[in-house]
Amino acid sequence: MKQLHFGVDYYPEHWERARWDKDAALMQGMGIQMVRMAEFSWHKLEPEEGIYEFGWLDEAIGLFGAHGIYTIVGTPTAAPPAWMADKHPEILPIDREGRVRGFGGRHHDCQSSPVYRQYVRKLTEEMARRYGENPYVIGWQPDNELGNSHQELCTCASCRKHFQGWLRKKYQTVQNLNQAWGNAFWSQEYNDFKEVPAPRITVTGENPSAMLDWKRFCSDLIVDFAREQTEIIRRYAKNQFITHNYMGFADKVDYYKLGELLDFVSHDQYPGGFYLPESPHEKEHVLAATLDVVRSYKNQPFWIMEQQSGITGWEVMGRAPAPGQLSAWAMQSIAHGADAVVFFRWRTCAMGTEQYWHGILPHSGNPGRRYKELQDFIHEVNPLMDSLQGSMPNAQVGIVFSFEQEYAFQIQPHHKDLSYTRQLQKYYHALYERNIPVDFVPQQGDFSKYKLLLAPLQYLMSPEMEEKYMDYVGQGGHLLLTMRTGVKDVNNICMTERELPGRLSKVAGVEVLDYDCLRDAQIEVLFGEEKLPAGIWSDLMRLLPGTETLASYASEFYAGEPCITAHAYGCGACYYVGTEPGEALMDRLLSLACSRAEVDSLMEPVDGVECASRENESQSFLFVINHTGECKAYEAPEGYQLLKGGQAGALKAYEAQILQRQKMP
Ligand code: GAL
Ligand code: ZN
Repeated sequence: MKQLHFGVDYYPEHWERARWDKDAALMQGMGIQMVRMAEFSWHKLEPEEGIYEFGWLDEAIGLFGAHGIYTIVGTPTAAPPAWMADKHPEILPIDREGRVRGFGGRHHDCQSSPVYRQYVRKLTEEMARRYGENPYVIGWQPDNELGNSHQELCTCASCRKHFQGWLRKKYQTVQNLNQAWGNAFWSQEYNDFKEVPAPRITVTGENPSAMLDWKRFCSDLIVDFAREQTEIIRRYAKNQFITHNYMGFADKVDYYKLGELLDFVSHDQYPGGFYLPESPHEKEHVLAATLDVVRSYKNQPFWIMEQQSGITGWEVMGRAPAPGQLSAWAMQSIAHGADAVVFFRWRTCAMGTEQYWHGILPHSGNPGRRYKELQDFIHEVNPLMDSLQGSMPNAQVGIVFSFEQEYAFQIQPHHKDLSYTRQLQKYYHALYERNIPVDFVPQQGDFSKYKLLLAPLQYLMSPEMEEKYMDYVGQGGHLLLTMRTGVKDVNNICMTERELPGRLSKVAGVEVLDYDCLRDAQIEVLFGEEKLPAGIWSDLMRLLPGTETLASYASEFYAGEPCITAHAYGCGACYYVGTEPGEALMDRLLSLACSRAEVDSLMEPVDGVECASRENESQSFLFVINHTGECKAYEAPEGYQLLKGGQAGALKAYEAQILQRQKMP
């Protein structure tokens, strides 16, 4: 397989044929090596049922190939055409309020619908047969951002039937289901699996156990939908890769499971924020965390399939990226493990929903500031990409990330401001500020390589996970546990045998006897001499003999009681954090935990400057990225040579440098 590193997302169907050659020539001049095409063009490929028109795509692939540009083919199954919806209205999804979501946007499809599946299989097979051996086609992207636009997923009759089948397989008997879901509550017992609904809105709240299984089912359904396509494609495409464009921390599908179908994972990175009026421009540490979680999904380098290349926006818009900023963001993706970056999109679209989601070229199609900037970027960075390929950060700190915990907190957030992923990102932030590389790790992952493992909000707990954490600490690991650990079993039922955090009390050295949800309230916590803010929650605990108090509450009726503790267990140590620390408290806590675990930092922190690293057997690469519009100075660590950049130690506005060091043999 070719090693390609830079590309663009291109929509030949949006432009006149006469323009394609010019686009290809401009791309070539910029150093573009690949295009992704066709992922929304079902109607162009099958304008009427069973009538396939692949000529235009053949031509586009060939034309780009002649310019040395390879193609990633997207299957257009995120946008079924109107003729299909008209003929088979049952393929349209039904939301939780029982309303049909109509044709006219995208993802207007039910992923369990047998009719829809049949159309999907047929088109995928036609495409795979046609392009599976095309020398200019390097790989595939089935569908687009699976799970996106499925905010409510689908509650149609077909989905309900599939859900019942999924439950039958899992629980065997309806008595088991009643038991697992606690259906004695409010008379929710079923006599038959056939009675179980797909959850429509109810008059009051929902059964949290039923909702958790529903979310698991919906995730499995998406994986199954993708599996059908990947199996077909693999039959024809023996030398082409299959990837999919993920959305960072998005929650609709368990990305670890989806990743098992793929050769590598891709991701869409839009630092400028999304299309909703309230969606923020993300902070740099959140962008970094997003890239790190994407790397964790297969624990290997990934691709960016859509990297922001201009102002973002649908109905409302984000800020114009400052000169240098697009390059800094692209470099950030590479720094965290991207082996290739595909920019979205080539040219700003003149029609449809995304007229203001800007591409490299403006509406006019004339190359301007963004073209020039990314051209320089590619010319400078591409020669280095082969040697970066495959390298990974060597993180000593892991943060456990689990879709199941995310689902459980969505169902019962406890506090209006408690978010599982946001809390993880807050822990991450303190490490980011200290230039300490982090891996996210799935619960089933290997913990043993981490000196320090942060496992916030381990709310659903199984005996196997308890063993795993005990073992990790017993063997010398430093583990951080928090509030709301070990509360529920995997069916989302509260555990009652012991005080919290259940069997992990032994490791944590605490028993939680009571708690306070800090609704509309903040507290202060005394850490050393400083009183620092915290929020969301207070655990009130009894310490087991030998447990050390690191911080205590300085507010409320529990002022003076322990809030953060440390406890030696086996060859390791366990921290327990009874609250959600504010930024300063988080900083003090993690600085202490990192120094006790002897975790190394890459370089002295500089405000607004990010530092990340990738390594392979022989070399370490250090990325130093200035995310500000001002000049910044930093002290390069010893032994490093400048590979890319003006002058080591001095960063211009938005400059990103790469340094390299040969490893000792
Ligand atoms: C992504 C999506 C693209 C395009 C882009 C801008 O989420 O994959 O197809 O919609 O956002 O809105
Ligand atoms: Zn459905």
